[in-house]
Amino acid sequence: MNLAVIGCGYVGLVTGACLAEAGHDVICTDVDTERIARLQSGIVPIYELHLDKILESARKSGKISYTANAGDAIRASDAIFICVGTPPKENGDADLSAIDHVARQIALEARSSKLVIEKSTVPARTGLELRHALSAYSRNSGLTFRVVSNPEFLREGTAVEDFFHPDRIVVGVEDESSADQMREIYRPILERNFRRPVHQDTCPVTSKALLLVTTINSAELIKHASNSFLALKISYANVIADLCEKIGADVEEVTHAMGLDPRIGGQFLRAGLGFGGFCFPKDLQAFVHLAGTVGVDFDILKAAERVNKQRIDHFLAKVHQALWVVKGKRVAILGLAFKASTDDVRFSPALEVARRMLAEGADVHATDPEAIARAKAIMPEVTYHHDPYQAVRDAEAVLICTEWEEFRQLDWERVGQLMARRLVIDGRNLCSPALMRELDFEYFSFGREAVRGGRVGVGVGQ
Ligand code: UDX
Repeated sequence: MNLAVIGCGYVGLVTGACLAEAGHDVICTDVDTERIARLQSGIVPIYELHLDKILESARKSGKISYTANAGDAIRASDAIFICVGTPPKENGDADLSAIDHVARQIALEARSSKLVIEKSTVPARTGLELRHALSAYSRNSGLTFRVVSNPEFLREGTAVEDFFHPDRIVVGVEDESSADQMREIYRPILERNFRRPVHQDTCPVTSKALLLVTTINSAELIKHASNSFLALKISYANVIADLCEKIGADVEEVTHAMGLDPRIGGQFLRAGLGFGGFCFPKDLQAFVHLAGTVGVDFDILKAAERVNKQRIDHFLAKVHQALWVVKGKRVAILGLAFKASTDDVRFSPALEVARRMLAEGADVHATDPEAIARAKAIMPEVTYHHDPYQAVRDAEAVLICTEWEEFRQLDWERVGQLMARRLVIDGRNLCSPALMRELDFEYFSFGREAVRGGRVGVGVGQ
């Protein structure tokens, strides 16, 4: 099928690449002409596992192409994926102006009827507004635009795998023929009748993805409800961690046992610095705002947001307790991205820690396997090191802020020897208290016993 993708951001590129790899002809367009030029020359503007490989093979096979002329993309397609950004407004509501702009473009540029697929994360009832706008902007054209809501559940770092191996594909429609067309678009993924270049040999045996056909409003709600529930789970685990610290229990023992109950599930119960990124914080706000507009007080989500915002304060309280005076001290921050396996620093708790340490006059050094360039663009005052061992040299404290496996695997004895003081405050519960005790560190984390070992490192002044 001829598909168009409008908006070549994270979701648009992953969607376009994977559908091209699945055999469709995909044309991508974006208002950012420089981004289109880079994509045309094979440069992928974001770091996402497997994405560059898939885009390159699709570009070479002619399955994917890019144009700065949205009209060409619209006219060349049977179905159009809208993947533009819906950033939060001051009041927490989602800014839908880019969607409205695309609606006008489609209505004016199309020369035949189209299936218009909403892939961007939007509040419920947006799809119906979009359909109204399309018919208003295309009055007297004789064309019909059927709207579908097709929310994505892609996680940064595993997005390509998530697209090829979805738990479910949700399509919100108003008629059977739209559902049939969506089934055609996703048939290769549902039937797995093509080799997905993510797993070397064969893909893991997972249950076949379901295609769920719902109303448009339900589909839009499913996205916000799912993300908000995951965020709620994380905040719940974080309050449990606070309780464990007060009572003298171990949050990992507690959440592990909770998670063994399939009604609860073990994922998204990792206590720490809280959730960040471009999805959870804004989706939570937009969902609370949407509920408020219809008189539903989503108190529990407001509480989840409040708990999440307090994680940084809790973490910095541990830093103050351990370091006493922060001003003038050299601290090493391990991790800048909002989570592991991405270079994305949007709404990153790690960056907020760095910002607060700088504000208190600390000499902030930092490292991250992928996100240094993006962090440096926002926070040039930090001293960045690509080598984590350089980052920790002469540090009075190491603050672990992102759950990169690389940090867990560090040679912590060597880290201890390089530091001015063997002090680690672990915002992601990445290290084991037992190992830290063995290596004579002072070690503090969330919801677990504190380790008060520690001897002055041999690194000072050398
Ligand atoms: C999320 C959803 O998972 C995905 O389905 C949706 O499409 C987009 O939003 P993403 O933002 O990439 O994906 O990140 P995710 O892996 O969900 O992590 C979100 C945040 O929660 C990160 O900051 C992560 O560090 C934090 N987190 C996650 C925890 O603090 N504890 C956990 O147990 C899990």
